[in-house]
Amino acid sequence: MPPHIYRPVAGLLIALGLSGAALANEPDKAPPHQAWSFEGPLGQYDQSSLQRGFIVFQHVCSTCHGMRNLTYADLAGIGLTQQQIAETAKTKPQPGAPDATGQPTMRPGLPDDHLNSPFPNDAAAAAMMGGIAPPDQSRLAMTHPGGPDWLYAFLTGYRMPPPADAPVVPGKFYNDWAAGHMIGMPPPLMNGMIQYPDGTPATVEQQARDITTFLVWASDPHRNERHSIGKAVMAYLIVLLALAIAWKRKIWKRLKTQ
Ligand code: HEC
Repeated sequence: MPPHIYRPVAGLLIALGLSGAALANEPDKAPPHQAWSFEGPLGQYDQSSLQRGFIVFQHVCSTCHGMRNLTYADLAGIGLTQQQIAETAKTKPQPGAPDATGQPTMRPGLPDDHLNSPFPNDAAAAAMMGGIAPPDQSRLAMTHPGGPDWLYAFLTGYRMPPPADAPVVPGKFYNDWAAGHMIGMPPPLMNGMIQYPDGTPATVEQQARDITTFLVWASDPHRNERHSIGKAVMAYLIVLLALAIAWKRKIWKRLKTQ
C-alpha cells in the first residue's frame, strides 16, 4: 500500500483504538440501587433528610455551585420557618444598587433572592476551577441520566489514593463513577465535617444520602403534594367502585326476583 493510503488508514485504526480505550474507561455498570423514601408512585420525601441535605448544600456545595431556580423563600417547602429563611438568606450577601459615586455595593440577602452561583459568571467559574464551571444544581438530579442512585454513588465514589494503574492528571480526581473516572471537582464530603442539629452522625454516606434527597427535591419540589393527591384520588375511586358494585347487586337482585 502506498504511504498516502496507509497513513490515513493507520490514523483511523489508532483513533478507533483510542475511542475504544476511552469507552472502556466509562463506568459501564449501573450504580447500586439505594432505597429512597421518595421512590415509586406514592413515595414521599423524608423531611429531616431534606433539611440535613440543605445544610450540606449551604455549607459545602454552595461554595462552588448555584441552584438558581430556587429562592430562599422556597425553602418553606422543606419545613424551614420564615425566620429561618430570613436568617439563611441574610448569610449570602447579594450585589446591591451602585452607591452615590457609582461603585458597586453589596447588601444582605433577602428571602426572594435566588440561590445564585458564588461566581459572577460561568467563564469566571471555569477560570477559577481549572477549566470547567461547576454546573447549576437546580435540575441536576433530573437531568443527569444516572439519577439519585448515580449521585449517591458519585459522591461516595472518590478513591484516595487512586488505583495504581489510574493516570495522574493534575487538577483531576479519581472517582469510580465520573465519566472517564476523572473529575475536576475535589472530593466535597468528609466524615464529620459538619454537625447535624438533629444529632444524626454526619458520615460521608449520610451526607451523600441527604444532599441527594435535597437535590431530587429541588428538581421536583411538588412530588409530596402530587403523591398525596394521588392517594386521595385512589381512595375516592375505591369508594366509588364499592358503591357501583353495591348498586349493581341491588338492581340485579330486583330483576332476578321479578
Ligand atoms: C470546590 C468547588 C466544588 C464544591 C465544594 C462542590 N463542587 Fe461539584 N463540581 C465542581 C466542579 C468544578 C465541577 C465540574 C467538574 C468537571 O466536570 O470536571 C463539579 C461537578 C459536579 C457534578 C457533575 C458531575 C458530572 O460528572 O456530571 C455534580 C453532580 C456535583 N458537582 C455535585 C456536587 C455536590 C452535591 C456538592 C456538595 C456536596 C458539590 N458538588 C460541591 C466543583 C465543586
